[in-house]
Amino acid sequence: MRLFSCLLAAATAITSAVAYDIPDGASISVPWRHTGRPGFGWGNQKDKWGNKIEDDRRKITIRASEDDTDDISADFVWALEQAQNGGLVHLEEGKTYIIGKKIDLPVLNDVYVKLDGTLKFTDDVAYWQSNYFYYPFQKSITFMVWSGKDIRIYGKGTMDGNGQAWYNGFAGREILDSSNTYYRPILFLTDNATNVDVEGITFLNSPCWTTFLVRTKDVSFDNVYIEAFSNNASALPKNTDGFDSLNVDGLTVTNTRVNVGDDCFSPKPNTTNIYVENLWCNGTHGVSMGSIGQYPGVKDYISNAYLKNITLLNGQNGARLKAWAGPTAGYGYIDNITYENVHIENTDAPIVLDQCYFNINETTCAAYPSNVNITNIKFINFTGSSSGKDGRVVADLTCSPGATCSEILLEGINLTSPNGTAEIVCNNIQGDIGVDCISAADADD
Ligand SMILES: *[C@@H]1O[C@H](CO)[C@@H](O)[C@H](O)[C@H]1NC(C)=O
Ligand SMILES: *[C@@H]1O[C@H](CO)[C@@H](O)[C@H](O)[C@H]1NC(C)=O
Ligand SMILES: *[C@@H]1O[C@H](CO)[C@@H](O)[C@H](O)[C@H]1NC(C)=O
Ligand SMILES: *[C@@H]1O[C@H](CO)[C@@H](O)[C@H](O)[C@H]1NC(C)=O
Ligand SMILES: *[C@@H]1O[C@H](CO)[C@@H](O)[C@H](O)[C@H]1NC(C)=O
Ligand SMILES: *[C@@H]1O[C@H](CO)[C@@H](O)[C@H](O)[C@H]1NC(C)=O
Ligand SMILES: *[C@@H]1O[C@H](CO)[C@@H](O)[C@H](O)[C@H]1NC(C)=O
Ligand SMILES: *[C@@H]1O[C@H](CO)[C@@H](O)[C@H](O)[C@H]1NC(C)=O
Ligand SMILES: *[C@@H]1O[C@H](CO)[C@@H](O)[C@H](O)[C@H]1NC(C)=O
Ligand SMILES: *[C@@H]1O[C@H](CO)[C@@H](O)[C@H](O)[C@H]1NC(C)=O
Ligand SMILES: *[C@@H]1O[C@H](CO)[C@@H](O)[C@H](O)[C@H]1NC(C)=O
Repeated sequence: MRLFSCLLAAATAITSAVAYDIPDGASISVPWRHTGRPGFGWGNQKDKWGNKIEDDRRKITIRASEDDTDDISADFVWALEQAQNGGLVHLEEGKTYIIGKKIDLPVLNDVYVKLDGTLKFTDDVAYWQSNYFYYPFQKSITFMVWSGKDIRIYGKGTMDGNGQAWYNGFAGREILDSSNTYYRPILFLTDNATNVDVEGITFLNSPCWTTFLVRTKDVSFDNVYIEAFSNNASALPKNTDGFDSLNVDGLTVTNTRVNVGDDCFSPKPNTTNIYVENLWCNGTHGVSMGSIGQYPGVKDYISNAYLKNITLLNGQNGARLKAWAGPTAGYGYIDNITYENVHIENTDAPIVLDQCYFNINETTCAAYPSNVNITNIKFINFTGSSSGKDGRVVADLTCSPGATCSEILLEGINLTSPNGTAEIVCNNIQGDIGVDCISAADADD
């Protein structure tokens, strides 16, 4: 009895010594393997960045939210701070964690976030429209910014943008309208980050773009599901792109499905070394490179992209490249892009190369040709069918007269049109493109 109470006192002392700065309902546990000695087997296994594996990490949990307004953002920040340098924050299955405040996440170093539950943002439009992180590129805003190094976000849970109120509020507006001030947050944004892995999770109903990778090196998504839907037929989700990037080197997307009404995968300026495999896109605006060269005096580029085994259903575009022309365009290049094994169904424009973006007619495009060089582009093994919206045209390759647009190759293109023999349109491309093609003037669309 004496011994027991003594132990109890000691245990209490330890708990209370730590307890005063642990938020209600939170916990920190140190793995028993933690004490494993080097050379003894435990603790020697490393993840791909040379850091501890999950079992060897300090685990932090926080209380879940009681309802959709119960903000746990301060607890979440606390948990990430505790997880710095080799810890893990676990958001547990069946629980919802509500973020209702603009918070500065710590600059992370070697942190795992195991997302098995739901991390959900409040839909207080008025609050978020006056509290956000702002990016001048296309006037983007976001709830929070992930930055730092060696960040792994994984599990079977969901990051939920709670977009319905945003869709209702944005109905009738357009993002490209320069007077638009109805800003909508991006669900997941990395900035100034290196080595970010996202695995297994679902991104649901983002108010605007689903992911935006900025100034990031080596970011990968595997086995991710992205969906945006509305319960209100007069307010559909808009601009809920699957993947956008800016100034990113090393972007990998594998085994991923995207079910949204805008771009499926669309790296933006200065994205290099892109690898995409087993991507499924439904109802989207396609897999697009660019647009590039939008801003006068600014150099943009996209290079070294390999995209393989892509399925594109019920969309506006399939594989697309777009570069600006006209009196106010910028300059740069799109180089070394390969699309291989692409299956397309019920899609308006299966293959598009447009060097007279955006909506610049032939006369203006000839007067102000694009200063974005497009080189070394391959479209290999495309199967399936267009929707017929563009008549018999299944591929439309339009370069601007006098611009650099060369080494464009099509091979194994077996796309059909419901309107008759499929046509491939080509304008102003230098050199042979590998298939028969006709000029836009002769096309049956
Ligand atoms: C990027 O993050 C690093 C730390 O990871 C920091 O030292 C640096 O100042 C940050 N750079 C910018 C431009 O924010
Ligand atoms: C659906 O969206 C429209 C357009 O914003 C809005 O007027 C209407 O109230 C919404 N309906 C519901 C049930 O929220
Ligand atoms: C191609 O991707 C689909 C998912 O869209 C997948 O089911 C299929 O297994 C992949 N094919 C190969 C050969 O990897
Ligand atoms: C694909 O998107 C269409 C709407 O574009 C939708 O009706 C259909 O259910 C979706 N298919 C799947 C498998 O999600
Ligand atoms: C792309 O990188 C170049 C430097 O190579 C830089 O001048 C330009 O501002 C970047 N573009 C954007 C949109 O950030
Ligand atoms: C073209 O891009 C691929 C990656 O898709 C890369 O492996 C290859 O080295 C690049 N080629 C050149 C000439 O840079
Ligand atoms: C575009 O190509 C032209 C002709 O080869 C070259 O002079 C120019 O430097 C290139 N521009 C860029 C941004 O690479
Ligand atoms: C062409 O692509 C399809 C997937 O879209 C694939 O099943 C098929 O094996 C590919 N054919 C060749 C010759 O690689
Ligand atoms: C092309 O566009 C320019 C600028 O919008 C316009 O002034 C011109 O009339 C158009 N030309 C033709 C042939 O449509
Ligand atoms: C192509 O055919 C479809 C029916 O299969 C028809 O609805 C559509 O109007 C046709 N498009 C054109 C441009 O002729
Ligand atoms: C093109 O695809 C159709 C099915 O969509 C197939 O029947 C046909 O054999 C294919 N042709 C070639 C040359 O691969």
